[in-house]
This record gives sequence, C-alpha cells and structure tokens, in this order.
Amino acid sequence: MKLLRQQLFGQPRDIGRLAALCVAAATFAGVPTPAAASPVTRPSCASPGAGDCSLAWAARQSGIYVGTAISNSMTPLEQADTLAHFTAFTTENAFKWSETEPTKGSFNWGVTDALVDFAQSHGLRLRAHNIFWHRMQTPAWVKAEVDAAADPKAKLKQLMTDRINSVMGRYRGRVAVWDVVNEPLALFGSGWDTADSLLTPANFFYTTAGEGYLDDAFNAARAADPKAKLFLNETVWNPAIGDPKADFLLALVQRLRQRKVPIDGVGLQMHAMFGAKEPMFSGSTSKLAAYMNALARTGVKVEITELDVSLPQTLAAFGRKWSNTTDAQALAMQASVFQRTVRACAQVAACTGVTVWGMRDNNTWLDRFGPTAGLAPHRPLLLDGTGARKPAYNSVRDALLERCPLRGRQKTPCSTPWPAAS
Ligand code: XIL
Repeated sequence: MKLLRQQLFGQPRDIGRLAALCVAAATFAGVPTPAAASPVTRPSCASPGAGDCSLAWAARQSGIYVGTAISNSMTPLEQADTLAHFTAFTTENAFKWSETEPTKGSFNWGVTDALVDFAQSHGLRLRAHNIFWHRMQTPAWVKAEVDAAADPKAKLKQLMTDRINSVMGRYRGRVAVWDVVNEPLALFGSGWDTADSLLTPANFFYTTAGEGYLDDAFNAARAADPKAKLFLNETVWNPAIGDPKADFLLALVQRLRQRKVPIDGVGLQMHAMFGAKEPMFSGSTSKLAAYMNALARTGVKVEITELDVSLPQTLAAFGRKWSNTTDAQALAMQASVFQRTVRACAQVAACTGVTVWGMRDNNTWLDRFGPTAGLAPHRPLLLDGTGARKPAYNSVRDALLERCPLRGRQKTPCSTPWPAAS
C-alpha cells in the first residue's frame, strides 16, 4: 500500500505540494475552495425553537432518540407524557412471548396492534421488546415442548422460527428496532447461564442449542423484517472494558459479526440498582464511552435501552455511605448518574438512542418487581409522581445537547469544548 502510494504520488511531502498546487489552480480558475468547517454553536434552552425545552426537543436537536417504556396498558396519561417528552418508546411487556402467545397458537394482538398504531400515527420510533428472553416471561409451554421433543435442538429452532415469523412477520416494516435476543448472558459474573439459580433459570436456549441459537434468531429475524434494526439487549452492571461481563459481551458481539450474523446493534440496559457499584453504577462517562466505542468498532450501533436510577436513599438500605443525604442531595446525585450516563451516548457517534424505563416515579417496575419491591419507593425516573420534571430530567436534556453539531454525526466542531470527562 505504501509502495503504491509512493508510486502514485511520490514521497508523502509531495502530497502537500500537490494539494497546494490544486488549491492554487482552483483559485486561479475561479473555483471556490471549501471553507474550513466553522464551529456550530451548541443549542441550549435559550435557542430559538427551544419552546418548553423538553427532552423531545433536545432529542431532535441532538439526533439521539429519547424513549420511554410503555407497558401494556398505555393509559391516556402515559400517552400524554410520551408525546410531551419523548421521541421514541419501547414496549415494556407487550411483545414478550408470554403476552403475545400465552398458550401455543393462541395469539393476543390487540395490545401490540394498538402500540404499533400509536407509534406510527405520532411519528415515534418504536423499539419492540423482545423476541427471546430465557429469564422471564417465556411461557412454560415453550420449554415443555423442547424438553419433550425427540430432537430438542430442532424443536427449539422450529419454535423460534414460528415466533419470529408470526410476530415479526405481522409487523414487518412498521417497527424500527427489535430486541431480538434479551439478556442471553448470566446475570452476574461472566459467561452463560448454564444452571438454574435463585434469581434466574438457566438459559435453555443456550443449553439446548449453544451459541448458535443467536445465529438462528438473528438470521430468521432479518428474513422476517429486512429493514428493521436488530438488537441484542443485555444488562451490564459495570459497562467498562476490563469488567468480566462487559468483556464477555464484547467478545460475543465480535464473534457474531465475524460469523456475519445480522446483528445491527447492542442495547445496554443500565438499570442502576442491585449489583451496580458505587456511585450506583461504577462507570465514569469516559469508561462507558470507551466501552460503547469498542462495541461500535465491531460494526454495530449502541443504545442505552432501559435506564433508571434508584434514589440513593433507597440504596442506603445496603448500608451505603449516602444514607444521611437530604432529599435535594439525593435527587442531585441521581441527576448526576443520569447525566454521566447520557453524556457518554452524546460523545459516541454510534450511539443512536437513550431509553428511560418508564415515565413517572409512581409507576415504576422496580416498586412492583419481586426482588426490588421491598425497597420501594425507588423513584428512579425523570418525572415525579405529579409529572413535574426532576433535576434528572434537566440533566439528561443537557447531556443530550452535548451531542454537537445537530443531527447525529460529529462532522463539525462544537463552539464549546466537551465537558471534562467525569
Ligand atoms: C420488566 C418490566 O418492566 C416489568 O413490568 C415486568 O414485570 C418484568 O420485566 N430487563 C428487561 C426488561 O429486559 O424486559 C424488564 O422489564 C426489566 C429488566
């Protein structure tokens, strides 16, 4: 390559001369030379068009989708909150196997139809979550059929293909992103879930078919809905290079890409709760951004997909050092965790979206879910119970606006430098 370049252009220093000659010739001929990119001013809440300075406004400025989670109910209040604050949403439960097909062959399409219609009619980007998740909300009949089959691997593949064709086929072309596989890895530690434990069953997809079940899932998903983006979604408590689970996920994604498995993106859930390290999640912005960039180098997009941050006072139950904080201090710490997380997305060109797992504090899965309900109220979201914006709301909005210039790719320098990595 170096030889070829030298043959074509001579020594490197000649390239500079050649370029100078070209510019001189172009100027002489009256052809304008391209102006140096002038810095773009970052938008702020004072920018024209900022209006109520909502998250949705900041999302449109930054080119980063900002989503919420809508469960099956989709109350009028949830609809109003979604339209006021977000540009995207994820289906919190409606697409899970237990919801779409609780008994074999009998499908519930009412809720999913309504959610897909709602997204389309309001121009919201829809992340349909999820197709395969061994840990929860896979109806018992699936594993029972696999276990009873003479050839369990073939049976599993057939059931997976049937589900993909029925669900993804039905909404082909109407869903932006599918979480094709959710949480394939062990909850804690590193590697696969190969045995049942108190918190989670073994990954029977993996124990039946090995890693190849991911290949089967993504290949069939691509065929069923060719234009949709296909994601693998995972919970990584410490999303940083060097963390065993984070490294295992990165290596897995590398293998999938090397095998030409059609995976378009990786979702990092980012529930900051049990298992997360201080301060609530241990990662700094720079570590998270570096990890996201490492994933992106394999050729995938990345997103933060299920962000919520339990209030530090809640975690005080674990004897953490912030047990005596005032409410205002706790809300500020929470805002800081949100901001440091979203800031990483703003700094990584391949990060296409941030989704917060819910809207108002009085309606969060953490207050209802068995292992976390005992610590309610978690107050982990961006709006309080009355719908008022919390400090975290503003911190997320401001972090989004750090993606500069407008519309996604950092081709032009910003007029203000990146904030120091924290
Ligand atoms: C949760 C929902 O929020 C709850 O309503 C449901 O009871 C259990 O699942 N990781 C995921 C999500 O990928 O699907 C989970 O959602 C939260 C953890």
